[in-house]
Amino acid sequence: MPTKVILDVDTGTDDAVALMVAALSPDLELVGATTVNGNTAVHNCTENTLRVFDWIGLPEIPVHQGMSRPLAREQMTQLNPASRIHGDLLDLPQATKARVQPGHAVDWLIETLLASSGDITLVPVGPLTNIATAIQKEPRILERIPEIVIMGGAHHHGNSTASAEFNIWLDPEAARIVVNCGRPIRMIPLDATHQALVSLDDCSALRNLGTPAAEAAARFVEKRIDGYDATQPMHRPNAAPVHDALAVCAIIDPTIVTTHHIPVDVETNAELSVGRTVCDFRFRSGRPANVHFAMDADEPKFVRMLMEILGRTA
Ligand code: BDR
Ligand code: CA
Repeated sequence: MPTKVILDVDTGTDDAVALMVAALSPDLELVGATTVNGNTAVHNCTENTLRVFDWIGLPEIPVHQGMSRPLAREQMTQLNPASRIHGDLLDLPQATKARVQPGHAVDWLIETLLASSGDITLVPVGPLTNIATAIQKEPRILERIPEIVIMGGAHHHGNSTASAEFNIWLDPEAARIVVNCGRPIRMIPLDATHQALVSLDDCSALRNLGTPAAEAAARFVEKRIDGYDATQPMHRPNAAPVHDALAVCAIIDPTIVTTHHIPVDVETNAELSVGRTVCDFRFRSGRPANVHFAMDADEPKFVRMLMEILGRTA
């Protein structure tokens, strides 16, 4: 039986690859996508998500638009240093028709989760504003959520600031609500995603597969490599992380990352470290473990999974 998932996205180049993996993997059933302010304004994230599903021939997957700004802070999208890596609109044909679903993503999340039998995994790969708002508005959804798999956080080093990873930094109050919600949480932070790089050679191999998904992924990852080499070089050149896709692959095959079950909280109130995921590896806080926090990833396995899944057609 495929695992049911809802992806909460701020699409974005790596979100786009994650959406294609989730939509095309035979091990997952993508119930729908919700969009949130993040890499770009939420209406661009929605348009980009529609473009991705059109491109791979799955326009029937529902897309619901969500929160346009963080819970408690000013809109900070324009400060995202990763913008050179994404741009506002994906390089794909415009979505054929305005077929974003009516109603707000938060209400759809609540209705869908309450109507479910507790079998839909939430996969937020953008700021956590939609998920936190849904929890605040209808806490009864919590008992229906088997697991939340988050792309976000950083222990060793951030990418928005020295301390903080972008998805958590953009809306730290929302992230704090979600990581402390009491449900099982897996976090795929930069510590893992920076260990699973996709290279220019991998992009050539993807392009050679000849499917719409693999061709688009090759283009998006090449753009990412260009941006990373210029602005955030990794431990080797000509390769870049594809963060959000690693989170989706970790649902299909949990062995792709190495996790530690530890207490994790989010700093919301500090001048230098706001948005930091504070990881209590040595259990100094006396708090129970609430997060399975990934510190490593299997790069060859990740690339193999991308090839296998993106080589499929709808
Ligand atoms: C995260 O930030 C965004 O720019 C990416 O889409 C990813 O979700 C990485 O820090
Ligand atoms: Ca994202």
